Amino acid sequence: MAEIIDTRIEPDRAIVKACAVLSEGDPVAIPTETVYGLAADATNADAISRIYEMKGRPRFNPLICHVSDVRMAEAHVTFDPISRRLAEAFWPGPLTLILPQRPESTVHALASAGLDTLGIRMPEGFSRRVIAHFGRPLAAPSANTSGRISPTSAAHVETDLGSKLKLILDAGPAEIGLESTIIKVEDDRLRLLRPGGLDATDIEALAALPVERPEAAGATIEAPGMLASHYAPGAAVRLNAKDVRKGEALIRFGGNALPGESAAAIVLDLSPSGNLREAAANLFDYMKKADASGAATIAFGPVPNNGLGEAIVDRLERAAAPRI
Ligand code: TXA
Ligand code: MG
Repeated sequence: MAEIIDTRIEPDRAIVKACAVLSEGDPVAIPTETVYGLAADATNADAISRIYEMKGRPRFNPLICHVSDVRMAEAHVTFDPISRRLAEAFWPGPLTLILPQRPESTVHALASAGLDTLGIRMPEGFSRRVIAHFGRPLAAPSANTSGRISPTSAAHVETDLGSKLKLILDAGPAEIGLESTIIKVEDDRLRLLRPGGLDATDIEALAALPVERPEAAGATIEAPGMLASHYAPGAAVRLNAKDVRKGEALIRFGGNALPGESAAAIVLDLSPSGNLREAAANLFDYMKKADASGAATIAFGPVPNNGLGEAIVDRLERAAAPRI
């Protein structure tokens, strides 16, 4: 079973132990501001292999490399002017940039699944201190079995991967609760490969350029992880419910009660006051709670599709998509 170290109580021991385990080539679950990551030395092929094995992740799906500062990023990727401005404005934070990998970069090709680009981001919070101490980029997907809901707490990670892991760092609930927004700059155009914890309208405002949305889910697999069915709970999912059927779990938003609620297995509100930031932070935890209620179906009330709601609705649509 994994050892769990609370970074709020023992920060120094957490860093030293994490770096020791990483140096041996073993993955460590680390807290980022978006979701918990399953981190390994991005320059070590065996270590990266273990990530794919532990998650049951297809090897054509590349991993994001996490850095502690811009200098570390510059050793591995080349920035175009627009990407550089985005990094200056939003790092550390929930933004992943897809950039050309430098020929001299020591990040192993297994991390990028053989592409000539790297997904790279500088996370906020304790994970950044771990990377700075380790001194090399960490490849880290979300710390969940492939296709399942991303973990926003150490307990989520422990339930899913605890028996396979040596170490989980616990920094409390993830502040943002949704994976990073993924952007690729091409020919001075901003392409949104995955909506996420950074509101795309904030990116548009900073770059003074429109953000081009991806095709409908599954139409093109530009970020290979964006398979249509993803973020899937065990239960079936019904979106935009106008009422609740007997025995269903209900997840709603904004204090909007639905007819039939009294017969629901459980009723959860992502944000009774209608705050999208709060809703994002609660989403994956509530999906897991609804799943644990034993209900065969989770009904979702309507969620607005603007601002951070775009990423929330994206995750809901993937959760509801036909399972592979
Ligand atoms: O917030 C996050 O991004 C979290 C935390 C741990 O940092 N990580 C995360 O990783 O969500 P993961 O593996 O669950 O999702 C990574 C996504 C996948 O859709 C993958 O295909 C895409 O990033 N990606 C990675 N490298 C890429 C590249 N070179 N080109 C296009 N897409 C890439
Ligand atoms: Mg993931």
